[in-house]
Amino acid sequence: MTKKNLTTQLAQVTFDGPLLNASGIHCQTKEELADLAATSNLAGIVTKSATLLPRTGNESPRYYDLAYGSINSMGLPNLGYPFYLDYVQQETAKPTILSVAGLSAEDVLEVLMDVQDSDYQGITELNLSCPNVPGKPQTAYDFVATRKLLERVFAFFTKPIGVKLPPYFDLVHFDQIAAVLNDFPITHVNTVNSVGNGLVVDVEKEQVVTKPKGGFGGLGGAMILPTALANVRALRQRLNESIAIIGTGGVTSGADVFAHILCGADMVSVGTQVIKEGLGVYDRLTEELQAIMAEKGYESLSDFRGQLREL
Ligand code: SIN
Repeated sequence: MTKKNLTTQLAQVTFDGPLLNASGIHCQTKEELADLAATSNLAGIVTKSATLLPRTGNESPRYYDLAYGSINSMGLPNLGYPFYLDYVQQETAKPTILSVAGLSAEDVLEVLMDVQDSDYQGITELNLSCPNVPGKPQTAYDFVATRKLLERVFAFFTKPIGVKLPPYFDLVHFDQIAAVLNDFPITHVNTVNSVGNGLVVDVEKEQVVTKPKGGFGGLGGAMILPTALANVRALRQRLNESIAIIGTGGVTSGADVFAHILCGADMVSVGTQVIKEGLGVYDRLTEELQAIMAEKGYESLSDFRGQLREL
């Protein structure tokens, strides 16, 4: 089989292929990041969402594997943003996306001011959607707060920056978030973060499976694929063309990568399946994607990106 052209462009950065790690997956420590740098068919590296101060995150158990996906309530464990900002300025093997999160608007602005003042010229991603920090809402469910925060960010931030969104479930909410985002020069949206506040019940033990927040946690993996595809599709139909989309959620096969791109994703990131299968998953997904493209006669991703047909 001849290799297809999988090159992808995001915010003027060229990636060798469409695949990224989902933030939070094997990207917290120096060692994990080094593993990602050495992973074939992983086109770029997304860091763990970095906060102003280091965090140990929530109490364990905080991740639970399910046949149909996963539930987690990690609570943003990370080494603090100076570590990740330093890392992205040194990493040369692949393009990077520096993910940042805040426990308050002030935290976010302080971190982004340092990113702005640094030598880092790559892409930053503002995580507005972590469902797992007790007492802290998912900012992007509040359209007024999101607009206010972005106004403050773009008052000084001039580097490439996108946002990570939670899943939306109502078409009116897609209209509302797109109306906010279209007013700002953001490079991309990453959609979706885990489906927040699911609850998995162990019937035999008659108890929950993760400790934080009484067992409520973010759902990922195969079970969220339709939700992720709907978010990619609905946002592609509403966002300015200049705003790229990273599709995240539910990818277990090359067909799922194909489906994300067909719905309009420029790039696709993989989370739960990396934990289930290891970093070799990127080779398998790429082979499967190439085989589908060969069968359909597509030479590049742009041949089918966003071309989903309606009945
Ligand atoms: C976490 O709870 O650390 C993962 C969720 C996120 O990255 O937003």
